[in-house]
Amino acid sequence: MNWFRSILLPVEGSAYAQQHDDLFMFIVWLSVFFFLLIAGLLGFFTWRYRRRGPDDITPNISHSFKLEVIWSVIPAIIVIVIFVWGFRGYVRATTSPGDALEIQVIGKKWLWEFEYPDGMRTLNEIHIPVGKPVRFIMSSEDVIHSFYVPSFRVKKDVVPNMYTELWLHPEEEGIHTLFCAEYCGRGHSDMLGSIYVDSEEKFSEWQEMGDERTRNMPLAELGAILYESRGCETCHSIDGSRRDGPSFGGIFGATHQFTDGTSAVVDENYLRQSILEPQAKILTSYEGIMPTFQGLLRDREIQALVEFIKSQQ
Ligand code: CUA
Repeated sequence: MNWFRSILLPVEGSAYAQQHDDLFMFIVWLSVFFFLLIAGLLGFFTWRYRRRGPDDITPNISHSFKLEVIWSVIPAIIVIVIFVWGFRGYVRATTSPGDALEIQVIGKKWLWEFEYPDGMRTLNEIHIPVGKPVRFIMSSEDVIHSFYVPSFRVKKDVVPNMYTELWLHPEEEGIHTLFCAEYCGRGHSDMLGSIYVDSEEKFSEWQEMGDERTRNMPLAELGAILYESRGCETCHSIDGSRRDGPSFGGIFGATHQFTDGTSAVVDENYLRQSILEPQAKILTSYEGIMPTFQGLLRDREIQALVEFIKSQQ
């Protein structure tokens, strides 16, 4: 019945996901069994004890002690089995081993920020080594978000002013999608992340040099990837349409009016400053809601974004 399980449920990214699904499938099949039993008996009794004529009168039936004990004790045992099974899974899901790699997670409108123990920070993308437990310590900068990775069967709210935690133990290399599972505003459905489970060598290589895919890419092409993966897209369109921030379409070379009465032509330095210190110059027709990307983008990534914006003419 594995085909049924694979249709019903997403990929299983860890042993915990398998255990989780074992219990889930147990409950599914138990429900199927009792549905068939009860609906079948219902149909059978309706036919078997149908009224056969005007004189067919039901005799006075009293209770059956034996039957009542059976239909109380058996379900009670089943429910206890489900509870013990589920509780053991819950304990496993909530207690992380002491040697886990700790990653800090900040949820904010509308992106995920990660920080590794060595201070490296990434956005909407994390790499973790295969076969090692990873613990996420999570908090929000604004509203409630929810960290949800279906293929690991884990989900936890990410709340402002407190920490919640969650851990993973990936057993195979692969890429998994991270979702935000708590409605947090217009960009909620774009609040996606990727979790790359890498081999030990690939992971340390990435830690030193960044993603190999992006290392040798032309700047504007890299910028296009960053535009999507780092959340720029949520607020800045490229087709000239208005979102929470100015569109990148045709922005390069335009003259911007700021709230302090000054103005400037959009050039490389202005774009760089707007990424690193978004509050320095605020356009008259927009609210200054952009977060700073200081420390979150490598120098080459900033250059790439600038080149990408330049290419949107
Ligand atoms: Cu963050 Cu929904």
